[in-house]
Amino acid sequence: MFISFEGIDGAGKSTQVKKLKKHLSEKGHQVLTLREPGGTVIAEKIRSLLLESKHDITPIGELLLFSASRAELVQNVISPALKQGNVVIVDRFYDSTTAYQGYGRGLDLEMLRAVNTVSTFGLEPDITFFLDISPEDALIRKFSEKSIPLSFEENELDRMESSGLAFYQRVREGYLQLAGSEKKRFMMLDACNDAENIHEEIVQKLALVCSGL
Ligand code: TYD
Repeated sequence: MFISFEGIDGAGKSTQVKKLKKHLSEKGHQVLTLREPGGTVIAEKIRSLLLESKHDITPIGELLLFSASRAELVQNVISPALKQGNVVIVDRFYDSTTAYQGYGRGLDLEMLRAVNTVSTFGLEPDITFFLDISPEDALIRKFSEKSIPLSFEENELDRMESSGLAFYQRVREGYLQLAGSEKKRFMMLDACNDAENIHEEIVQKLALVCSGL
């Protein structure tokens, strides 16, 4: 079983990934959790290039770096783990590329579909949980959790987070479009709800989709 979590930064994905891992592990499943970009030595190096660098990266360069990181992770970690019968939960997968590089940066969606197929070797999540939140609410949440005042300095943000509110609005719109066009795979959740309620919804949905979970 391959499960992905999606949503804009600050939607609360990592909390839900942890809760779901605990739940499934307690039920006796072998669960591997990963986050993108990253997860192998090379993919972690690409992650620092993408997020820590203050240098500009072209949208195509950015797309290819995220995709290179994904290819490393799929071939070396995700596919072998799935073959061994593990449940794999990823914090972001190729829908992030569609939302951020496609809707956010404006790259051609058809071209992205082709690149996504290459970087994943055709692997698709069985189910995708999309935590929906407005960029304004996500920002407030992110900064209140870190106790950082909202009037932040730019250098407190990583390279992607410095892309601005309008960018995040386009990314959210992209996710909403995906949720509308991929109704079977996408499960949309209101990220403003209580984390425990969201977790319960996720557990119920999973039980419906896969009777063994
Ligand atoms: P991360 O710190 O992992 O953020 P989050 O906790 O929100 O997941 O940073 C990953 C950043 O990279 C995030 O801003 C989303 C972005 N991203 C893309 O733009 N395209 C992609 O394909 C992926 C996987 C991530």
